[in-house]
Amino acid sequence: MLTQFFQRYMTELDASMRHTVNSRPKFSSDFGVMLRYALGWVDEHDTPYNLPTGKRIRPILLLLSTEAAGGDWRKSLPSAVAVELLHNFSLIHDDIQDNSLTRHNRPTVWQVWGTANAINAGDALFTLAYCALEELASRDIEPQTIIKIWRIFNDTMLELTRGQHLDMSFEHQAIVTTDEYLSMIEGKSAALLAACAQIGALIASNDDELSAAYMEFGLNIGLAFQIHDDILGIWGDPDVTGKSAATDILSRKKSLPVLYGLNKSEKLMSIYQRQTFTANDVTEAVKTLDAVGARKYAQETETTFYNRALAALESANPLSESGRWLKQLVEALFERQH
Ligand code: IPE
Ligand code: IPE
Ligand code: MG
Ligand code: MG
Repeated sequence: MLTQFFQRYMTELDASMRHTVNSRPKFSSDFGVMLRYALGWVDEHDTPYNLPTGKRIRPILLLLSTEAAGGDWRKSLPSAVAVELLHNFSLIHDDIQDNSLTRHNRPTVWQVWGTANAINAGDALFTLAYCALEELASRDIEPQTIIKIWRIFNDTMLELTRGQHLDMSFEHQAIVTTDEYLSMIEGKSAALLAACAQIGALIASNDDELSAAYMEFGLNIGLAFQIHDDILGIWGDPDVTGKSAATDILSRKKSLPVLYGLNKSEKLMSIYQRQTFTANDVTEAVKTLDAVGARKYAQETETTFYNRALAALESANPLSESGRWLKQLVEALFERQH
């Protein structure tokens, strides 16, 4: 479904990502395998692996935003590589933080190589994201714009770690308000999507006002995207999402449907007060969420943010063809099952 957006950029994006990671001769070792595995290129024995893994939404958003703001997408390739590497770094660390066993239908990096190695592999991908950014200097981009991109990157990482901190703290907090929740997801996932749209527009136009409109667009996509992920985390099919089911409930994540359910149902509140959760408790929790309409509420909230995203896109006045693609990307994200 999303591959139509991906296909136009895929060959060069993939080649640039591989170049960033594989051009380091010392990465042919077992250290490099962990990085290639996380990026979906090989299995745990370094044998090429051809099943689709990550959706590459972030680089697609960045490259489409570049075009929609009147620029050449190839100029944005280094930043597109950088955001995808940064994203995959965050997934490796997130799976440790969330105690998640499965991602992309395979054991998580920490499951295969242990937590200590996974932290280290994540650190390497994080650094490689900055290595990719070094390439900006060879793309005819003004030094001032490069510094702006650097700053957006740093701010995004600080937001991401702030959001992850809140996400983990909320596991131990009985009541979380909607505002607290929104601030948490803005940090842990929307900030990076906002940065993608903003950087794309900045490279195209070097116009702060225009790139702020794109940032607003990306931020709202990001909020909706995370709410959709919350819904899939409870009601999604694990074979399709590639992630194990019920992990969010087992770890008492304060995802949006759960927030709503805790507000509406004393029964759910009492389940969440239990010391440990059994499989039966999880089933009971999901039934309660269904009964109070938590899924519908989350879907409506998601729709609100998608509509805000579309309004922000319109105010950015995108070029007609790429603007249409961006709109279709938003619609596809809204319907995604993984
Ligand atoms: C997963 O993001 C983490 C969230 C911010 C919800 P994606 O669903 O974009 O991850 P991949 O890269 O496609 O697996
Ligand atoms: C998303 O985390 C944000 C980051 C990975 C930084 P989640 O924990 O909500 O996402 P999934 O469901 O594991 O992909
Ligand atoms: Mg997680
Ligand atoms: Mg998480």
